Amino acid sequence: MKLVLASKNPKKLKEMREILSHLGVEVCLQSDVGIDVDVEETGTTFEENSLLKAKAVMEASGLPAIADDSGLCVDALGGAPGVYSARYGGPGLDDEGCYRLLLENMRGQPRAAKFVSVITCCFPNGDVLTARGECPGTIAFAPMGEGGFGYDPVFFIPGLKKTFAQLTPEEKNAISHRGKALEKFQAELKSYLSSR
Ligand code: IMP
Repeated sequence: MKLVLASKNPKKLKEMREILSHLGVEVCLQSDVGIDVDVEETGTTFEENSLLKAKAVMEASGLPAIADDSGLCVDALGGAPGVYSARYGGPGLDDEGCYRLLLENMRGQPRAAKFVSVITCCFPNGDVLTARGECPGTIAFAPMGEGGFGYDPVFFIPGLKKTFAQLTPEEKNAISHRGKALEKFQAELKSYLSSR
């Protein structure tokens, strides 16, 4: 089965492909099916934005579409940056700019945080599957590691004494918010497909 990914983030695509390939599901880019949809993320929850993205790409392509809406929620910042993780600090900041701003805003604050991912899959017949995954951790005092993307260098897993950016892709996928959401999604997709 082929799912069109409602994202242009190549690192997200790589993670989703790695995880979903075990189910025999092929994840392809919008460009592979000749569409180019930019969805405005106007929702205030991961669920809303995930659905907005998957629905828009399904409608434009006529094919089942999958979206991940994800972000980092810091307790001491009232859940920020949350759904605004990609836009934290305004449009001029790259990944490093965002996590450096976060470190600055965290000075003297408790470090508890979690990553959240909500996966939504919309089918042309109107059916919708959704799954949420969370990964608890803390915000490091300085960036560490070269892997991953986004806030990975400052997201610390106390049990492993490493940031996400210091894990191999397999290690990250095994515990990450996206890994967990996709694991739940796999189970839902399996039972959805077998019930048809
Ligand atoms: P989205 O494309 O609107 O879902 O934005 C998600 C944003 O959250 C990304 O641009 C990253 O800043 C952050 N994010 C989500 N998942 C991860 C992850 O696994 N590692 C690091 N940052 C992440």
